[in-house]
Amino acid sequence: RRILLINGPNLNLLGKREPHIYGSTTLPDIEAQARQQASSLGVEIETFQSNHEGAIVDRIQEAAGWGPNTTTQETDAPRKKVSAIIINAGALTHTSVAIRDALAAVAIPFVELHVSNVHAREPFRAQSYLSDKAVAVICGMGVYGYTAAIEFAARHLRIEGE
Ligand code: DQA
Repeated sequence: RRILLINGPNLNLLGKREPHIYGSTTLPDIEAQARQQASSLGVEIETFQSNHEGAIVDRIQEAAGWGPNTTTQETDAPRKKVSAIIINAGALTHTSVAIRDALAAVAIPFVELHVSNVHAREPFRAQSYLSDKAVAVICGMGVYGYTAAIEFAARHLRIEGE
């Protein structure tokens, strides 16, 4: 059982950026807590943050054990397969067909996560390219959403046949 936690653009600034919206907990704090929680649930967790859409697409492809592209596929050390993805894609949630397509391609069940309540903010944040493909969507719980997502993913998400 292996969970991949992905954070997209600007989430490296958690704790510093707009604390009235996103709170004061930093991403390293969240990732450290995620590792502790995962080990107490008996699952493995990998964490990844990038501000770059393509890097996130690459990481999602690697979660299926595929290399980032056909030219490097043979030489790259194969990654271990992931059984569930938790993704806070940040602003890319509202714009990225590429991330949507990557998640559909790997067919790994995923939870879409937002720290803030995206429905109580600017109207463009209510639109998501991920929600209709997600097993679950969490928003507005603050950073507790990460804890809730890991609990859910560890207990309820697995790829069929695994
Ligand atoms: C966010 C909400 C997005 O609209 C925003 O662009 C973010 C963070 C959240 O966690 O609340 O960067 O995903």
